[in-house]
Amino acid sequence: MTDDEAEMIRLEEEIKDCRLCELWKTRNNPVVGEGSLSTKIMLIGEAPGYYEDLKGRPFVGKAGKILDELLDSLGQGRAEVYITNILKCRPPGNRNPAATEIKACTPYLDAQMSIIEPEVIATLGNFPLTYIFAKFGLNPDKISKIHGKVFMVSTIAGIKKVVPLYHPAVATYNPGMKTTLIDDFKVLAECFV
Ligand code: URA
Repeated sequence: MTDDEAEMIRLEEEIKDCRLCELWKTRNNPVVGEGSLSTKIMLIGEAPGYYEDLKGRPFVGKAGKILDELLDSLGQGRAEVYITNILKCRPPGNRNPAATEIKACTPYLDAQMSIIEPEVIATLGNFPLTYIFAKFGLNPDKISKIHGKVFMVSTIAGIKKVVPLYHPAVATYNPGMKTTLIDDFKVLAECFV
């Protein structure tokens, strides 16, 4: 087992026992994340939904089906990226994450980024965009203006690319957005080489 694998397992155990916010009371399973620990690309969604909470895996519902199609459009699969969320536990009724929950939970995301050290951080939807832009000192803007653009940031772990993307769920209530998502995902293609 590599050091990264051991550290991720330790983190997973910590998250399973986490009671830093109230969401542990209503969760069935925390959703830590999954994928390659040596990938260059980390995809960050918002929070687990109904099916993710039941299965303990990210993006296994309708939005996940679209995410799989988007990765497939690049000739890639889940095993080539790492997928996680801002919140590791499902907010009841799929309400938006609360600021207190984001504050309590994001040290886990930060720890995951330290283990994986991705070169590319792709945010899926508004909540990860807001968090990641603030973390790296980027000026936030509306997702409708900046989706699919690449923002370079200099960090102690080297230069990273931040790519804000729409949340795949937009294509479930607005099928026309699928084309936009497919186009935006193309900026990730060169990162797989
Ligand atoms: N939506 C998200 O943002 N994350 C998931 O894991 C599932 C749906």
